Amino acid sequence: MKDNLAYANANDAPDLPPQEFLRDLKRGLARQQKIISPKYFYDAQGSALFDRICDLPEYYPTRTELAILRKHAREIALHIGPHTEIVEFGSGSMEKVRVLLDALDRPQRYVPIDISEGHLLDAAQRMRLAYPALEVEPLVADYTQVLVLPPDVPPQGRRVGFFPGSTLGNFEPQDALRFMQMCAKTLEGGALILGVDLVKSPAVLHAAYNDAQGITADFNRNVLVRANRELGANFQLHQFAHSAFYNAPYQRIEMHLVSTCQQTVNVDGATYRFAQGETLHTENSYKFTVDGLHQLALRAGFTPGQTWADADHSFCLLWLDAPNSRSTA
Ligand code: AVJ
Repeated sequence: MKDNLAYANANDAPDLPPQEFLRDLKRGLARQQKIISPKYFYDAQGSALFDRICDLPEYYPTRTELAILRKHAREIALHIGPHTEIVEFGSGSMEKVRVLLDALDRPQRYVPIDISEGHLLDAAQRMRLAYPALEVEPLVADYTQVLVLPPDVPPQGRRVGFFPGSTLGNFEPQDALRFMQMCAKTLEGGALILGVDLVKSPAVLHAAYNDAQGITADFNRNVLVRANRELGANFQLHQFAHSAFYNAPYQRIEMHLVSTCQQTVNVDGATYRFAQGETLHTENSYKFTVDGLHQLALRAGFTPGQTWADADHSFCLLWLDAPNSRSTA
């Protein structure tokens, strides 16, 4: 499948990410509040753990978003139109996009973008088998960076972005704006379908990130497992406890790994000290309001259109038009 594989740029060969991980981990551990980006959760094991999270009874977002997609698939497909190219940012297992593709009129091309190469190529191959008429062009890339998409948008159709799963919630507000601006450029003349988790009762949120089976805890700790394996770090896994809570003023779930004792960790010749109770901040998962998102979308150059939500307004899909820059003021 290598010949169908495109890289964002020549330097993005698969041996670069470990160096990037090392650099980011060392920088993050040297800070007063130790941090690591949640994008490093998603190696093969992390992606598999995330798929298990999506099936958990407490984790409502995936199931709710799928239900919204299924319920409104025809209407959304009419919004999209025929012969489209669907570009998915962070395609994961590609389960949701199937609901769209099944409802679409002769979709032409599917460009799934993901940083987890193995997972991406396996899933892309399954898509080729399931949709023989569709051109599947996986792109191994960090979609928070500038993307180089196939240059030719289908002549009769347009390019429509799909960014489900509330992954936007992983970005800091400034980065969310930057990403949306880049998206508006990439999708010029087309549109974006954005799936986001909405602000709701802290108890429901808390349960979703503190599941009874401890899968989310394993997912959280997987970043340490990965650092030990890929970077030769020596994190003692049983000395880091999972912590997830809703930070209401910031409208976000925070995930941390809490050091249960005073300890030191070695990474690539450097030593980092953890006090008992000190945390490594591993993820923010922002929650949104439709109003807030429309403001963000407008600032990024989109024109907000229809929204589709479940009855409880737990999760929402937004249609955002990406006008040609020449047709905007
Ligand atoms: C993939 C970022 C949307 O924030 O809900 C799930 C990741 N973290 N459980 C989320 C996640 C813990 C997920 N996103």
